[in-house]
Amino acid sequence: MLVKILGIETSCDETAAGIVVDGQHLLSNVVSSSMNLHSVYGGVVPEIAARSHIEVIHQVIDSSLKEANCDWQDIDAIAVTRGAGLSGSLLIGVMTARSLAITKNKPLYGANHVLGHVYVNFLTSSAQPMYTIPLEKPQFPMLAIIVSGGHSQLVLFHNHFNYELLGRTQDDAIGEAFDKVSKILGLGYPGGPAISKAAKDGDHKAIELPIAKVGGYDFSFSGLKTAVLRRSQELIGEDYTFPSFKLSERLNESQKTNLAASFEYIACKTIVNKVKQAILEYMPSSVVVAGGVAANTELRKQLRETIDLPLLLPDIKLCTDNGAMIATLGCYMRQFNQSTADPYSLDISPNLTI
Ligand code: KG4
Ligand code: ZN
Repeated sequence: MLVKILGIETSCDETAAGIVVDGQHLLSNVVSSSMNLHSVYGGVVPEIAARSHIEVIHQVIDSSLKEANCDWQDIDAIAVTRGAGLSGSLLIGVMTARSLAITKNKPLYGANHVLGHVYVNFLTSSAQPMYTIPLEKPQFPMLAIIVSGGHSQLVLFHNHFNYELLGRTQDDAIGEAFDKVSKILGLGYPGGPAISKAAKDGDHKAIELPIAKVGGYDFSFSGLKTAVLRRSQELIGEDYTFPSFKLSERLNESQKTNLAASFEYIACKTIVNKVKQAILEYMPSSVVVAGGVAANTELRKQLRETIDLPLLLPDIKLCTDNGAMIATLGCYMRQFNQSTADPYSLDISPNLTI
């Protein structure tokens, strides 16, 4: 029997809903972002994000049903992100999903956002032609490289819902480092795409930056961000007391593009080095990449050049937060008998970990 799940995602600044069949076929994916409202502040403002979710969530859900040619009768269950994320944002998604589960009489699943990013790699087809989706599912054991604005982790999946955390960042997440470096260079928010664009015109060998030496499979990105700050101060002939918010006015274009390229190259290398080490030790059958930074061209290039195993990279539009990833995870939660949530009491879990 085909199972159709509606996934709802509101953990940060994207209000998103998607519908997936049997954990493999994407029917619809609708994302409304409040990013432009946050960019003037240089980062997500939680209150603004929560207000935007309220304004658009029902419209986004309706559009996802329409795009999938479904009505409520066709939906077998609802999955909603319950964490990790911003409390106010998560609340809107969870309360909406709870009331829909009650009024439409559907089972409800409380989903882990980070697992959702991983599970989007299990899609193998799409009713929407604008998505490029691998034809094969990843095989277990599967190494997941989780690289987003809030997380940098290496996780080994032995099977569905049976996984082991190999390592994680000890300080900033990689996406957070992209965002902070972009702010230093005055390139705007979100930092990932802005750094990438600037890096295309720069030389990654122009500025020497360090790779953090951290034990095991853990990462650290805060030293790299500080190194960019120090190199920037040196380039304009100032010492470490020069304020970071004034740097972008003094750096010229080629200094900015070289700093962006050098930072991007080393940040990606940091991930790739640990992935190489994990592959040698754990010999996975497949490698998947998950989270917003999976959209990064340099990371994709370095991984493709290094990894000699089936490597799955989500369509760029499915790397950043979306509802399809939560719907896909919901399908697997149902298939593998993960417990359903009580629609009268499901709570948010802002610090949920994997
Ligand atoms: O997964 P995501 O949408 O949200 C979280 O779960 O955190 O990831 C957002 C992060 C941001 O830090 C953003 O700068 C980064 O992903 N990002 C990128 C790119 N696109 C988004 N980083 C590097 N290159 C990109 N092309
Ligand atoms: Zn995310």
